[in-house]
Amino acid sequence: MGASKNPHDDISEVLLDEAKIAARVKVLGAEITAAYPGNDELVLVSVLKGSLVFVGDLMRAIDRNVRIDVMEVSSYGGGNTESSGTVRILKDLSGTIEGRDVLIVEDIIDTGITLNYLTNYLAGKSPRSVKIVTLLSKPARRVVEIPVEWMGFEIPDKFVVGYGLDFAERYRNLTCIGVLKTEKQKA
Ligand code: PRP
Repeated sequence: MGASKNPHDDISEVLLDEAKIAARVKVLGAEITAAYPGNDELVLVSVLKGSLVFVGDLMRAIDRNVRIDVMEVSSYGGGNTESSGTVRILKDLSGTIEGRDVLIVEDIIDTGITLNYLTNYLAGKSPRSVKIVTLLSKPARRVVEIPVEWMGFEIPDKFVVGYGLDFAERYRNLTCIGVLKTEKQKA
């Protein structure tokens, strides 16, 4: 069964509305600002495509200089709700992170496979530090334990979309984060 014309119609439950997300992002931004008090370069590495919306809001909630870089990785095949367990780099960094503080910006940590791979990969490029901020975490699904410095919300083991998160590349433009109706979780 395909997606409806109006993406909101495919949501069975709103988990986090726009106001709740915005308030939490502001707090995360303030905490990150306080954690990097100097003027050394802080590189936000946005993990596309899921973190696209989150990084846009988060960077404007951080009150210091930042540089933005992006990587695109994929662990879910199109139309799948389960991680394949294999991470592919579709787009690498454009700038150097050597000697820099790096903050990986993710939309969700599920099994932890993606972030485990990415932190190891980025650590191999000799940054000064590598930390993680994720908007969402599904602890029930964790396979690899990852130290996460900042987390927006812990959520139950339900398939969520919106605010950057997709199913088969759809629903990223929803302003809320909601549970996708079961009958829509089929490609
Ligand atoms: C999603 C999400 C994370 C990863 C989390 O990406 O954006 O990167 O899965 O899952 P894990 O903790 O089980 O590894 P996805 O592969 O769906 O690509 P996308 O960001 O382009 O939607």
